[in-house]
Amino acid sequence: MPSLADTTRNRVLFGGDYNPEQWPEETWYEDVRLMKAAGVNSVTLGVFSWAKLEPRPGAYDFGWLDRLMDLMHTNGIGVVLATPTASPPPWLGRLHPDTLPVDEDGRTERWGGRQHFSHSSAAYRRHAAAVTEALAARYAGHPALTMWHINNEYCTSDHGDEAAVRFRRWLKDRYATLDALNAAWGTAFWSQGYGDWEEILPARRTHYLKNPTQVLDFRRFTSDMLLECFTAERDIVRRHTPHLPVTTNFMPLWFGQDAWRWAEEEDVVSVDLYPDPRDPLGAQHGALVQDMTRSQARGPWMLMEQAAGPVNWRGANHPKPRGLNRLWSLQAVARGADAVCYFQWRQSRQGAEKFHSGMVGHAGEQGRTYQEVRQLGADLAKLGPHVADTHVTADVAVLHDWHSWWAGAQDGRPSARFDYPDVLHAWHRALWEAHLTTDFAHPEHDLTPYRVVVVPQLYALTDAAIVNLLAHVRRGGTLVCGFLTGIADEDDRVRPGGMDARLRELFGIRTLHEWWPLETDETAACDGFRGTLWSEEIEPDGTATEAVPYKGGELDGLPAVLRKDRAWYVSTLPEPAALRDLLARACADAGVRPVLDALPAEVEAVRRGEQLFLLHHGREPVTVGVPGTHRDLLTGATVTDRVTLGRYGVAVLTEPAA
Ligand code: GLA
Repeated sequence: MPSLADTTRNRVLFGGDYNPEQWPEETWYEDVRLMKAAGVNSVTLGVFSWAKLEPRPGAYDFGWLDRLMDLMHTNGIGVVLATPTASPPPWLGRLHPDTLPVDEDGRTERWGGRQHFSHSSAAYRRHAAAVTEALAARYAGHPALTMWHINNEYCTSDHGDEAAVRFRRWLKDRYATLDALNAAWGTAFWSQGYGDWEEILPARRTHYLKNPTQVLDFRRFTSDMLLECFTAERDIVRRHTPHLPVTTNFMPLWFGQDAWRWAEEEDVVSVDLYPDPRDPLGAQHGALVQDMTRSQARGPWMLMEQAAGPVNWRGANHPKPRGLNRLWSLQAVARGADAVCYFQWRQSRQGAEKFHSGMVGHAGEQGRTYQEVRQLGADLAKLGPHVADTHVTADVAVLHDWHSWWAGAQDGRPSARFDYPDVLHAWHRALWEAHLTTDFAHPEHDLTPYRVVVVPQLYALTDAAIVNLLAHVRRGGTLVCGFLTGIADEDDRVRPGGMDARLRELFGIRTLHEWWPLETDETAACDGFRGTLWSEEIEPDGTATEAVPYKGGELDGLPAVLRKDRAWYVSTLPEPAALRDLLARACADAGVRPVLDALPAEVEAVRRGEQLFLLHHGREPVTVGVPGTHRDLLTGATVTDRVTLGRYGVAVLTEPAA
């Protein structure tokens, strides 16, 4: 199977989406000059070029792309060629209105923006396949071509009539009989029993709460339909270029796409990442997404898009202060990225994203953005031979599953005061602040590489997942589990007793009497810390080896945290410092240590391959103790026992010389 290493060849890929069709051809030559000066070695072409490539049905115009491919090749810049199927040309919608997606209220989304395609439309799939075939046939042998990028950020849904037909087919595959479907969906409640497959609808607008299992299956179906669109195009390009890797760019923690499942279908996993420069936890969000993407890739991955400066889709779109672009780019490399790419190369002067930054901003070559990009290119060139195709290893895994998220993120739940991603972020943040390197894993994955498994919240768990967790503890692993875990099965049916009996026994819980959700600004006092979001009325079974009680109020004296040997249950969300300390302790007990001891709070440390990355997220200089003598790959300097990092400073240290 082709892999990212086939494209990177000991380099970190550096570049971005290049949309030269917006510019006169003389600009292309200027672009190449600036790209080379900045060390750009890879561009993504054609992401939204369908109308330009196929201006009329079946009539292709490749001349402009031929010239660009040649230009890139002549200048030693590789091309990640995109299929243009994320933005169909206006003629497709006009000729085939059935290619347009319909929302849950029956409103049609039209052309004039982008991503106006129905994953279920046969006409869309036919035309997408045709343009993909033409593109692949034309460029299969082109020497500039290094990789395929299918579509862009698959994120659409469709509730229309063609989707209804495909949904029924998908359900027949899953359940075989209507009796099985009625049982799984619990349709005995509210008179929802189905007597004919034709009666079943996508999850369209209803008067009051929808059937939750129908919604869950519709989410599964949507992810699967988009995946079918991806694999159809992937198979076409693979037929032409079996030696080249294929990817599609994920959005971070995107609700609509089971990225575990998708990653299995890709040769290269890539992600788009846009933390808010003003967000004090922006770097931690970045670390979470990077850890998750690396885990999906099971190795090096691509940062396919980030912004060199401001985006244009937040309330106020803040630029990156001097040094931040470099810091966050090197953070991605530290956490396993073998590509640092942007949306987009040159900032547009027209169109919907003209106020979104590019690597070359409106200020041009002299602008700070381009100057910083250029410095970063030089840094990446130094790191490439040392880091490309090397791995990050972790002793801790955080479990995450889209199906559980989909099942839990419904109306009619016990508390709408928080969302699952908030909980996931809080737990990952605690590990990040404790300087513990973590992977992510699916609850049914092999957990044997990990000494500590952390479950922030898995509301729905399959039997296989529960058995996997029990086996982890049985073979000596530590499990730390957050509230609202193991409540439902994969059909979103509540487990007997309100929480899976095997898990209750594991943690030493006799009865889970009630949940006591907290209001947004409410906390629950516990012995030594305050809990947020949630609390629980738990009756322990007397087998716990340790318990931290709630203090005062209705739950006074009942356990907030229960520990039975290596299995911990945390029935609230402890405030950040308390959760950090709890996880640090659980890890220390399991023999898992932070990357470095005595790290300043604002310094992130990650070991990748033979290198130690130190990333300073603050503005005031700090000194970090690094026992031994090292070489800093960025400066070439020898570092002995300590290194000082300035504002947003980064050091990449080789292991101490023996
Ligand atoms: C996404 C898209 C890009 C662009 C950027 C803007 O990542 O893939 O085409 O719209 O967002 O931030």
